[in-house]
Amino acid sequence: MKINRNFDNLVPNYLFADVARKTAEYAAANPDKKIIRLGIGDVTLPLAPVVVEAMKQGAEELAHKETFKGYPEYEGYDFLREAISGYYKSFGVSVSPDEIFVSDGAKSDCGNIGDIFSQDNTVLVTDPVYPVYVDSNIMAGRKIIYTACNEQNGFSAMPDESVKADIIFLCSPNNPTGAAFTFGQLKAWVDYANKNDAVILYDAAYEAFITEDLPRSIYAIEGARTCAIELCSLSKTAGFTGTRCGYTVIPKELERDGHNLYATWYRRQATKFNGVSYPVQCAAAAVFSEEGQRQIRENIAYYQENARIIASALDELGIYYTGGKNSPYIWLKCPNGMGSWEFFDLLLKEANVVGTPGEGFGENGAGYFRLTSFGDRESTVEAVERIKKLLS
Ligand code: MLT
Repeated sequence: MKINRNFDNLVPNYLFADVARKTAEYAAANPDKKIIRLGIGDVTLPLAPVVVEAMKQGAEELAHKETFKGYPEYEGYDFLREAISGYYKSFGVSVSPDEIFVSDGAKSDCGNIGDIFSQDNTVLVTDPVYPVYVDSNIMAGRKIIYTACNEQNGFSAMPDESVKADIIFLCSPNNPTGAAFTFGQLKAWVDYANKNDAVILYDAAYEAFITEDLPRSIYAIEGARTCAIELCSLSKTAGFTGTRCGYTVIPKELERDGHNLYATWYRRQATKFNGVSYPVQCAAAAVFSEEGQRQIRENIAYYQENARIIASALDELGIYYTGGKNSPYIWLKCPNGMGSWEFFDLLLKEANVVGTPGEGFGENGAGYFRLTSFGDRESTVEAVERIKKLLS
């Protein structure tokens, strides 16, 4: 037998696994040090009370014959898809419940959606990039082209008519840079995709962090329904990193190569996925209730204040950064021309603070570094004090 040799083309470790390993090694060698982790974007606040209550009620229903549920529908329960559709409506975007697929998170869908596209498509990603888009397409053996995001373009790359791409991954607000597309910028991508018969895979996992007048969904852009699939997640919006629930939208009119993409994805999901558990779907629906929105907004505001605390320390230190305003991530330039891993080591050893080296997100991340605002307040304040002491 032979294994999938495309795996030989991957970098040896998944970025966050590498960061975790290095941190664990340092912690084991220095058990007396209090390490503050602002690396992986994992939330620290508990689930909102209304969400927990709904999850408990869902579990209770499973305990009784009359209300017990077996396999869920492949695309998710109606009540959740209706709640998600209502959420889109709340910011002026029309997405019908029967265009929504409930999943166990955007990471899985970003990695799996490639199943419906031929291997010989060319994939375009912006660089720096969330590693899942790259690694999953390397595993599938697709050609990947990179478009640079840098200080010159404000970390928001624009389409280039001379470049031919079939599948385009966009993430806005962006992981890792925190940059968010304007309506005009996103319209340029939509026009490019429609003109070039391409499909945009739009990762909107951080839309709830937008504070300015920017698109919360690609479907806020005219023409997106004929070229875009949107992937979203409750991980960062409602603290579901461990609970696992997300959703993917495929407009019914989206067709390529004589195939309807909604129907193709439905076929794939029905074969490989048995859905999200009932209590979790109940919990997810509660996120979109009026009280759910009020409670999760409090948590988001808490993380936004953390971002402000980190950003103001960088302002004091005179360090260049983006993000923080419409995103939970702060993307900073390593001081004194340091490399990303060099700065990672310095912060870990001298301040016992963990971040994510920008280089791990691609070539254009070299010399940059990502901090997350998902820590708890006390640790974030302490991390910032340590960083200020080290760098001032
Ligand atoms: C990150 O830190 O970039 C995210 O937590 C990764 C993810 O959502 O999978």
